[in-house]
Amino acid sequence: MALNLVMLGPPGAGKGTQAERFASEHGIPKVSTGDILREAVHDTTPLGEKVKAVMERGELVGDDLMIGIVRERLTRPDALGGFVLDGFPRTAAQATALDEITASRGPVICIEIQVPDEELVRRVRGRRVCDDCGANADAFEHLPGALPPLCQNTDRCRSVGPKWVARSDDSELVVRERLKVYWRDTRPMIEYYSARPTFRAIDGKQPPEQVREALVAAVASALGKPASQLRSLAKNVGLQA
Ligand code: AP5
Repeated sequence: MALNLVMLGPPGAGKGTQAERFASEHGIPKVSTGDILREAVHDTTPLGEKVKAVMERGELVGDDLMIGIVRERLTRPDALGGFVLDGFPRTAAQATALDEITASRGPVICIEIQVPDEELVRRVRGRRVCDDCGANADAFEHLPGALPPLCQNTDRCRSVGPKWVARSDDSELVVRERLKVYWRDTRPMIEYYSARPTFRAIDGKQPPEQVREALVAAVASALGKPASQLRSLAKNVGLQA
């Protein structure tokens, strides 16, 4: 059985933070559509040029483009045994396409992280990312209230003295637009999942470590397994992939 996980929730809910950690702890790839698009914008690829303005307005990129990107990424060998999806699906058409892409891959666990809107705006406005590679400053250990002295995303980052900046879509105006789009286009889609036995909602207002524990417990409960077996499940999957 593969460990297929979809993280759902509004902007700033903590999907990326939790997806990163869960994926690395369980040996499966994190597939973030936001990261894929931001990398394309940063590298000024044809995809990046197509989506830059849409992202800066806080709107959604077209379904056909997004479904093509995710279909290609999930059929790479490293994702066949499991994945953590962050930022997809966001519309009913994307959800239907994901069902089709994963039809023969075992259950898809869907976790909604719930956080009140005002807390989301506060978090997103406070977020700082590395100007070079886009890594979130909070991903690294640092003193409360201070930014880390160096970006530690050594795989991708060429920064020698990081410039911590706000993400281009994190201004209050754009965050409120992203939330509007979320409640209009994405939240209704979550209803599509909520009746399934593999759906769980967790409280994302808690500190990150407690959200992590709630996430692991929710995934284990959706699979009907003890949390202690998840890691070995992912390892077995990795061997088969
Ligand atoms: P995307 O990158 O997916 O943005 P998003 O969904 O708006 O989510 P965020 O990255 O803002 O938040 P998150 O939930 O991941 O929270 P995070 O962990 O970072 O998409 C960006 C754009 O790309 C879209 O607007 C759209 O244009 C386009 N796009 C992407 N996918 C698309 C698709 N499928 N279809 C169409 N268009 C698409 O945390 C946020 C902050 O809070 C961080 O600073 C973090 O350190 C902090 N934090 C995290 N957890 C906690 C906690 N428990 N307590 C306190 N602080 C916390």
